[in-house]
Amino acid sequence: AMAHMEAAMSDTVLGPGELTPFVDALPLPPVAKSTGTRANPERKDEQIPYYRIAMREMHVKVHRDLPATRVWGFNDSSPGPVFETRSGEPLLVEWANELPLKHFLPIDYTLHGAGKDVPEVRSVVHLHGGRTPPESDGYPEDWFVPGKSAVNFYPNRQDATALFYHDHAMGINRLNVYAGLQGMFLIRDAVEDALNLPSGKYEVPLVIYDRFLRKDGQLEYPVSPIPGKPWVPEVFGNVVLVNGKAMPYLEVEPRKYRLRILNGSNARFYRLAFEDEHEFHVIGSDQGLLESPVALQRLQLAPAERADVIVDFSKYAGKRMQLASDSLPVMQFRVTTQGAPDTSVLPAKLRAVERIKEKAAVKTRLLTLDEHLNLADQSMDMMLNNTPWHAPITEKPVIDTTEIWEFVNLTEDTHPIHIHLVRFQILDRQRIDTNAFFDSRSLEFIGDVEPASGIETGWKDTVRADAGTLTRIIVPFKGYTGRYVWHCHLLEHEDNEMMRPYEILATEPQKQAND
Ligand code: C2O
Ligand code: CU
Repeated sequence: AMAHMEAAMSDTVLGPGELTPFVDALPLPPVAKSTGTRANPERKDEQIPYYRIAMREMHVKVHRDLPATRVWGFNDSSPGPVFETRSGEPLLVEWANELPLKHFLPIDYTLHGAGKDVPEVRSVVHLHGGRTPPESDGYPEDWFVPGKSAVNFYPNRQDATALFYHDHAMGINRLNVYAGLQGMFLIRDAVEDALNLPSGKYEVPLVIYDRFLRKDGQLEYPVSPIPGKPWVPEVFGNVVLVNGKAMPYLEVEPRKYRLRILNGSNARFYRLAFEDEHEFHVIGSDQGLLESPVALQRLQLAPAERADVIVDFSKYAGKRMQLASDSLPVMQFRVTTQGAPDTSVLPAKLRAVERIKEKAAVKTRLLTLDEHLNLADQSMDMMLNNTPWHAPITEKPVIDTTEIWEFVNLTEDTHPIHIHLVRFQILDRQRIDTNAFFDSRSLEFIGDVEPASGIETGWKDTVRADAGTLTRIIVPFKGYTGRYVWHCHLLEHEDNEMMRPYEILATEPQKQAND
């Protein structure tokens, strides 16, 4: 099937090496500006910043040698503007859908039971990693159509980190994000301020994503040749974009920089490294600063994972350094010969991250990641716990309790699993005999336990669940009661049933039944 698809696209998409790398300067997304103030929904006597951010279609030059590309973005930018916010300082965002009525990517009505009565263009925005009340979290079925908007409340009651906002509309999320509906959301706090990290122009957001570009500069989104089922299991592009440019370059001074990296791809995992294996330090992951910096030469990032990285260019004055993911060029750094003195530091200690003890958990859930091939038409279904989206909610943790979630990956891929609202810690991974599990649901281990290490010891909101492996995380459910979702962040999987609602209850279910 894949061979047919490639054949059908081969004369329209760009071939490998057809675009000259590193000819466009890296763009920096604008900083989001508030448009006024409104009453704080939690304290009516207080006014808080109000932002109106509109989703729009636009045409942008992604590369010097290509005609402008049709994309979607926020206000006038794709990816959208960067929010600069502070921990504990709430804000309101009106997400306005000003998109056209027709999608420019191939729509598929077979997913998630979305019938043809569902409008073609619909959107809802989720703040990934945000501790957000349920009504503002961008529940996939809370989508709205062009001409409508939704006001979301972000309390920002959480540690400094890089979050990101993106479309989350049911059954179409992969197309909306592929079109460009995502952007970064930075939260700062006093702990971060006190560290004297590189800041201002020495702190650079990098939203990295791959796209399939055609020779005419337009985005290609592949469809499957299976009649009536256009869904494809993953999309890997032919070009890597950073902040909306294909393989850009950034001029840097010979000093330390702080790179805020987000893997904003639909399905591609990156293994980022400099061409000379130059060492860099990771100081933070999804949910904020690590306890201490971790020196790396290669950084693995699954879709939706973030890394806060310090790179020291001081030994590279006058040189050009390529950042690549295996053989795929990502961007280039051009180090100038001179710059202002560097007074920033790479601190030895960053922030205390207390490891949660396993005995703090009141419950352990064993959850499977499954795929099924439909022999009749060779189409694939992907699921969590063998349960489709529309089935009743089965995961109902109680607020202010801690649980262990164990993911048994019975598929042949790694899936980045994301749980809304919470931050969690990775406990460990262990390979299992999947046949034994299929036969009798028994866990037979075939390797050693690998406890979380290095950059995976920080607070996370997305975890890589490897094939044929049991991945265990420990999750304090804090913040709000109500309905949220958890899902695979390979967007093609998420749109094809690899997503489930979950609900945080106020009290234990038995007590509720007695009420
Ligand atoms: Cu980044 Cu449910 O999403
Ligand atoms: Cu998946």
